[in-house]
Amino acid sequence: MDAEQLAQRLTQPNGPYAGLTVVDSTKSTNADLDRARPPDRTVLIARQQTAGEGRRARSWSSPPGGLYVSIYYAPGVPAHRWPWLTLLAGVALVNVARSTGVDAVLKWPNDLLLGPNRKKGAGVLATTSEKGVVLGIGLNVQPVQAELAPGGLAPTSLAEEGANELDLTELATRLLLELDKWEAPWRAADGDPFASGLHEEYRGLCETLGQEVRVELINGSFEGIARYLETDGTLVVRDVDGHDRSVPAGDVVHLRTAT
Ligand code: BTN
Repeated sequence: MDAEQLAQRLTQPNGPYAGLTVVDSTKSTNADLDRARPPDRTVLIARQQTAGEGRRARSWSSPPGGLYVSIYYAPGVPAHRWPWLTLLAGVALVNVARSTGVDAVLKWPNDLLLGPNRKKGAGVLATTSEKGVVLGIGLNVQPVQAELAPGGLAPTSLAEEGANELDLTELATRLLLELDKWEAPWRAADGDPFASGLHEEYRGLCETLGQEVRVELINGSFEGIARYLETDGTLVVRDVDGHDRSVPAGDVVHLRTAT
């Protein structure tokens, strides 16, 4: 990964980011930025992580060959709209994967599913503080040995799905520019996902909506049809008794496409 090229293309005055650092190895780029509280739109990329963090206290396998990036945002929009940053990251991931010729969709909220078998190629973890959000993205570029994600979701990578671009500098550039493409208008619209067009884009890329799903909560699970997103990005699932239930967090398993 060419750190100089990335900084030149992506940081001010040529690009949208305040700063960009590439390190050979760290425990977790999310933990580093969370501690540092750097300026708004600061990027940290690691060539490998030794203690990569995943959602719900799981670990994220981070050997050399993958893309591990965190961005600190202090977006200055109402905090109840910050969750849209994690959905926005999902949008960016799908568009980057598709730009490499790979079939890609999202599972709510932001799991990148690749190829005909809908395996997991990337994940997003946001850490929120009083002032802002550390948005962490792990994209499997080369094959990884990783545990099955919840719901039996197997891991995959761009390489395994036949991507026509595997260069980490190019992929990091595409990802960071695609994030900016959605984050800038979202921020300009004061975080409104509708006015910024983010909601519509997300809806078009998220395969969960309209699907029969199982929602796995900390204290049990239920099945139903995923219907729509609330304004804060919460998923609404109609359960078998016909009640609409909000799912602010939890793991969603796709059962099959609803007809
Ligand atoms: C998931 O469990 O699906 C989310 C995985 C998020 C991994 C990324 S890699 C860069 C950043 N640093 C971390 O420690 N985690 C996130």
